[in-house]
Amino acid sequence: MCGIVGYVGKHKAAPFIIEGLKRLEYRGYDSAGVAVLQDGGFTVAKKIGRVANLEVEAAKIKLNGNYGIGHTRWATHGGVTDANAHPHISSDGQIAMIHNGVIENYSKIKKFLLEKGYTFKSETDTEVLCNLVAYHYAKEPVSADESRFVSAVRKSLRHAEGTYGIVIMALDAPGELVTARKGSPLILGIGDGESIVASDVAAIVSRTQSVVYLKDNEVAHLTPKDFTITTLEAGEVTPVIDKVNWSIEDSEMGNYAHFMEKEIFEQPTALENAMRGRFAEDGSTAQFGGLNISPNEFRQIDRFMFCACGTALHACMVTEHQIERFARLPVECDYASEFRYRNIPLFRNTLFFVMSQSGETIDTLAAMREAKRKGYKVLAINNVVGSTIAREADGGIYQHVGPEVGVASTKAFTSQLLIGAMLALYIGRMRDLSFGAGQRYVTALKSSPDLVRKALLQAPHIKEIAKRYAHYTDMLFLGRLSLFPIALEGALKLKEISYIHAEGYPAAEMKHGPIALISEKCPSVFLAPNGEILNKIVSSMQEIKARKGKIIAIITEGVELPEGLADETIVVPDCHEAVLPIVYSVPVQLLSYYIAVERGCDVDKPRNLAKSVTVE
Ligand code: AGP
Ligand code: GLU
Repeated sequence: MCGIVGYVGKHKAAPFIIEGLKRLEYRGYDSAGVAVLQDGGFTVAKKIGRVANLEVEAAKIKLNGNYGIGHTRWATHGGVTDANAHPHISSDGQIAMIHNGVIENYSKIKKFLLEKGYTFKSETDTEVLCNLVAYHYAKEPVSADESRFVSAVRKSLRHAEGTYGIVIMALDAPGELVTARKGSPLILGIGDGESIVASDVAAIVSRTQSVVYLKDNEVAHLTPKDFTITTLEAGEVTPVIDKVNWSIEDSEMGNYAHFMEKEIFEQPTALENAMRGRFAEDGSTAQFGGLNISPNEFRQIDRFMFCACGTALHACMVTEHQIERFARLPVECDYASEFRYRNIPLFRNTLFFVMSQSGETIDTLAAMREAKRKGYKVLAINNVVGSTIAREADGGIYQHVGPEVGVASTKAFTSQLLIGAMLALYIGRMRDLSFGAGQRYVTALKSSPDLVRKALLQAPHIKEIAKRYAHYTDMLFLGRLSLFPIALEGALKLKEISYIHAEGYPAAEMKHGPIALISEKCPSVFLAPNGEILNKIVSSMQEIKARKGKIIAIITEGVELPEGLADETIVVPDCHEAVLPIVYSVPVQLLSYYIAVERGCDVDKPRNLAKSVTVE
């Protein structure tokens, strides 16, 4: 959840760490801190609020050392206070630690440490783990064959239940960092005379593109010139050095006001990237390189299960619709957080998919592990290359849309929709979908970037509408069939970034309850494309109008609504069913974005949220 940066090397640590924390701020941002080992002691600056506050605080003190750790927090244990911010220092002053995750048995360990005379300044679970390392470090004999530091960390972690990504400094081990993970992402950056550890490559790529993805239950020891990785049980690990293909520009905002705005407008290019090289030569189907499952095996599959969270789950729900519609196979979708505890009866020839932009969402990861434990193959649709989900999956499809920084997912969502539609085509062509239908489908998918470009032209008009609707406190989003999940997504976007209460419903379901909310104070956004059930959607609009509800209608070109029915109309291009959800995502994203801007909200860092949720 939080951002982690650790540095040992030839340059000053603090400026690099603070710069890195700014790049990672989207991961958690209720407080930030940095500790540098210098002049024989730890110098610490920490502050609640944004990294900018930390920067002001850090400027007041001299942070000259070349070894340091920094953190942006998303509080789980203890309120948002300076004292609870990381790094934490053990009460004997020997150990400094930053931590992402939750130590579930912290109170038991704390009791033990209190008895041993350790004291605590914060309410966090992290400070407990920090003191546990100090306890083992103090007891550890100096040995020639293994770092005393690594050994103490290893012993401590054997007692820690829960999840962690930690980076630790020891007072008498200058120039060394020890880092370990279980359930939280950590990446080592192998530089020239410097070593970096971070929770995200965005904090590393300004210095090096050579990285090592640490795995669960691994412990790494870093010095400026070297690094070694071992397991928690002291087994040897041969590290694999990967090259990152993201550049520093990918995670910068350019001329846009917010990352979310940039990422909304990047969608045509993102879709092009997600499709590149993925259509078969005959132009009638899709092809994927990393599925690790042969077409023959695929033909044996007679149902699919999709698990994900939040926006990614909405993408799964659209994919469910597309696979059922075009490949005629049953699909079930579930919240990853529910699936992992539900123990639902499963059919043997089921293929599992998980979707996750970050590839680090703990609930999705746990659902995947549970499906694998039950003996199923799990494929992942995922954006972040090398993420935990990508590495643990049996195969999968990368989204290839570059870093998504805005907490509210946009380009990752539409690329998931696109990949879901391509998957439906791939499966459909193995079964009942004809060559001609496949070709038309491919042509439609290929036109999606241009259709999105056209939809984006509505931005100035949507901005005007947003000004008129920004003061409302409740809103409904109503859509049907494959646009029902887009209604859910529209409502989620609005809730996340503007704090307006919003609900998404299948349009006809509205009369079974939510209609009670309708008055002149609760507008409804209708997703009303041309098609067989347009008349039914229009009837739902009439029911809203009859109760004085305002209507924002998002229609496709050529649709004519009864005079005066809609208060506002947004027109998007008409298109093939397979791409309709992609095209309809654009106006709902823009509407939420402009409403949030109009309300003066912090669009890229909405309150209480963080980009990827790595705690349960
Ligand atoms: C998206 O706007 C949300 N912030 C959130 O619902 C997100 O989609 C969800 O947490 C899943 O994240 P993931 O795709 O990285 O797994
Ligand atoms: N559990 C720790 C805390 O509350 C770490 C939270 C985080 O991941 O930022 O301080």
